[in-house]
Amino acid sequence: MKPKIFLTRRMPPAVMERLERETDLAWHSEDRVAPKAEIIAGLKGRDALLCNILDRVDAELLDSCPGLKVVANFGVGFNNIDVAAANARKIPVTNTPGVLTDTTADMAFTLMLAVARRLGEGERLVRAKQWTGWQPLQLLGADITGATLGIIGYGRIGRALARRAQAFDMRVIYWNRTRLPASEEAGATHASFDDVLRQSDFISLHVAYNSETHHLLGERQFALMKPTVFVINTTRGAVIDEAALVRALQTKHIAGAGLDVFEREPQLEPGLYQLENVVLAPHLGSATIGTRTKMGMIAVDNLLAVCAGKRPPNCVNPQVLD
Ligand code: DGY
Repeated sequence: MKPKIFLTRRMPPAVMERLERETDLAWHSEDRVAPKAEIIAGLKGRDALLCNILDRVDAELLDSCPGLKVVANFGVGFNNIDVAAANARKIPVTNTPGVLTDTTADMAFTLMLAVARRLGEGERLVRAKQWTGWQPLQLLGADITGATLGIIGYGRIGRALARRAQAFDMRVIYWNRTRLPASEEAGATHASFDDVLRQSDFISLHVAYNSETHHLLGERQFALMKPTVFVINTTRGAVIDEAALVRALQTKHIAGAGLDVFEREPQLEPGLYQLENVVLAPHLGSATIGTRTKMGMIAVDNLLAVCAGKRPPNCVNPQVLD
């Protein structure tokens, strides 16, 4: 018997083919965020929910499907899922770590380069047909080589970013809730949270989003930073107090920001669109065909394992499996 899956939104083609082959698949075929009522209706009698980072999975949704065996998230972040509610119902929740590490670190580095070298401003100038030719003082940016990169949250993606930074001769410092053993520091030096803020020329955020990291950067933290710093965010928008960020950018308390994620996606804090010193991307961190396919395959591995009574490779609440 193939496991009965409900998928909330279309996945890359190779993943869809596998799902058709290996599962009894029902899915929300419109390519938009599925309203909760439609997920609840589609989930009736299903064994597994294959959802993504925009689907809110809460107690009501879990209770609507008493036979549900697993919630498999298509994404490494799982702040869209009420894990406590899943724990209370002994439902494993899975995610897709590992495969998006390099792709997301590439995006963070892309944003660093783009904002430091004023690529967005330059592109807008050329497209507006306002460019009158090379000038000695036009759009002068900041150097990356030799600068200090502060990485906040030194997990897989933070360390992958550090490796990229070393190729650019950057000095890398990091803050992590627990300091890593020297053998895993990937050439970076541990510093206190405030020292990372004070010393860095670039600050990149790589903590998971939860109640402890909500608004980790706000008014007080921006005030500690150098006025020449660039802040990069590829994790979750609400790790930054976006209103405080806009004020810090407007008042030139900081030099710029490269943002792939926002507090209320797809809405942006008023004022952000108008700022020249920010590069704005539409949550593209893991958006390559290769990585999204791997993420989908891992999500399927996870749910098939649970449905077959095995341990899934990536469970965020493994205590429910015991
Ligand atoms: C994730 O996986 O959490 C990213 O934000 C989307 O790919």
